[in-house]
Amino acid sequence: MENTKNKKIIIANWKMNPETFSEARELFNAVKKETRKLENIEVVIAPPALWLAQLKINDNDNIELGAQNMHWEEKGAFTGEISPIMLKDAMVKYVILGHSERRINFGETDEMVNAKILAAFKNKLTPILCIGETFEEKKEEKTQDVFKKQINNAFVDITEYEIEANKIFIVYEPIWAIGSGFTPAFDDILSARLLIKKILAGLYGRRVADKVPVLYGGSVSVQNAKDIINKGGMDGLLVGGASIKAGEFINIIRAVAN
Ligand code: PGA
Repeated sequence: MENTKNKKIIIANWKMNPETFSEARELFNAVKKETRKLENIEVVIAPPALWLAQLKINDNDNIELGAQNMHWEEKGAFTGEISPIMLKDAMVKYVILGHSERRINFGETDEMVNAKILAAFKNKLTPILCIGETFEEKKEEKTQDVFKKQINNAFVDITEYEIEANKIFIVYEPIWAIGSGFTPAFDDILSARLLIKKILAGLYGRRVADKVPVLYGGSVSVQNAKDIINKGGMDGLLVGGASIKAGEFINIIRAVAN
């Protein structure tokens, strides 16, 4: 599945949901069926890791699997962790890295995120890098500083060549918007996109920056999905809560596809 310039990307981050594998399979199959009809959309499902190898994708399915996290080492004594090689072996193509829930609840640092991006590139997995500010940082007008710090640190030791040779997505996820029902104004989403592109252009030049899709995540719903893409200028969406309800997620996909 190639991401062309006009192909919008919709990523479902199921987090630690649903409760059982039979519910997960039902949800997955419903979404998979819907995506077969669509050509201008790329859908990635990121279920809990336990189910990655069990959710089956066939050749004609227009859907891919993503992990919600991974370790940067390829094997060894790292209790509880999953390696990039294991993800490849389970036919996983994408990996969400640096989600704020991992940064805040599990102490994930920018340095760890950087090591994970390098490991993902080495193993031909596409990183989905999440960045974003807290409500405090927004109030103190520190969003720009947060973006700069998170992007500069995430891309340490990553060359222009690697960015061109691999795919990477950046998702703007304001922490205060996640699961809250609040989203930034569309103008602010557009400004965030431009800022991310500017920081990337500073690191790698405009041509390379242009190749990195920028997505939005945080309280995406059927109501706001299309406007976030059109008015916010985004290349796609990362959907949490609304992605574990088949009907709602399918309606988001349809809204973006039409
Ligand atoms: P939400 O989560 O859509 O439930 O706000 C988004 C995310 O955390 O990725």
